[in-house]
Amino acid sequence: MDSHPRRRDKLRRAVKKTGADALLVTNFTNVTYLTGFTGDDSYLLVRGDGEVVLSDPRYTTQLGEECPGVDIDIRPPGTNMLKGVGKAIKAAKIGRLAIEADSMTVGLQAQITEKLPKLEIVPTSALVEELREIKDKGEIARIREAVRQAERGFGVLRADLRLDKTEKQVANELEYQMRLFGARWRGFASIVGVGPRAALPHAVPSDRQIGQSDFVLVDWGADEGLYKSDLTRVLVTGKISARLKRIYEVVLKAQTKAIDAIRPGATGKEIDQIARDVIGKAGFGKNFGHGLGHGVGLDIHELPRLAANSKSVLRPGMVLTVEPGIYIPGWGGVRLEDDVLVTPRGHEVLTGVAKKLEDSIVG
Ligand code: GLY
Ligand code: MN
Ligand code: MN
Repeated sequence: MDSHPRRRDKLRRAVKKTGADALLVTNFTNVTYLTGFTGDDSYLLVRGDGEVVLSDPRYTTQLGEECPGVDIDIRPPGTNMLKGVGKAIKAAKIGRLAIEADSMTVGLQAQITEKLPKLEIVPTSALVEELREIKDKGEIARIREAVRQAERGFGVLRADLRLDKTEKQVANELEYQMRLFGARWRGFASIVGVGPRAALPHAVPSDRQIGQSDFVLVDWGADEGLYKSDLTRVLVTGKISARLKRIYEVVLKAQTKAIDAIRPGATGKEIDQIARDVIGKAGFGKNFGHGLGHGVGLDIHELPRLAANSKSVLRPGMVLTVEPGIYIPGWGGVRLEDDVLVTPRGHEVLTGVAKKLEDSIVG
């Protein structure tokens, strides 16, 4: 069976357990996952006996091409989504409707309730997102491709890096290079932080020049068409201070130990703690303020999480980032980020950009 019908059947079983007759999928990425449709502004109503995409005339042709076999309900021009939703719910005689509480808007829910006062609403959370945690072979192949595009682009950027380039120029060139290697687009807004700006975990590229400090942090990834990659490296453009050497060593050790522990059955909390212990023992516990990692796939940040409050248990097919960091305001920061596949016996690191400190020296 194709992957999309298989995913929908798994979802149907999960919806049944909630006691609802159907689930209205309002998260567009979830609609893509369940149907293959890559447009937006469209919902999917998943019933026990089938499903229907609720969309508008802009997407008639695209829906036919991208998800043959799925019922499509195109609402007439000049009508809004509510009308299509109401019609589909009535036609299927749905009494209890599950909704995606994390994406359904308060406004739409109120409108649905007003239009269909007898309809019982069952809020649900992460029914589709939990299916998305485990990647199938096709998804893993696409993530590998997104990694390849990101790494190739980075290789060119690194070879061409000049100290008079600005953070903005570096980010733009990197994104352009990834596209030359086949990426549809960047996986997320690239982070390029020179010296003290590397202390901002989500620094927005500025006009600061690469040569204004001894190092630059680059956090980048590709979108190969649907699936994303997410990497971080620090490039050394000047001298390696004792402080940079120490902090880099601690981050690398934290990342290596955490990756080594990734295997089915380990928890997201345990893996996070392994990295946090290394950084804490080195005296930088307060300088590592974010979780250790996150799932990556159709979204750049998705389940599962590697974090102190994570309830996730790792299973084969999960793809996670592992990204410890130490951030010192006014000085800078070091983060190393790789993408890791959980395999039946342990893990495979999908990313391969060299990361010993001596490998990070450019020029
Ligand atoms: N690129 C954002 C992150 O690493 O989560
Ligand atoms: Mn990243
Ligand atoms: Mn990340």
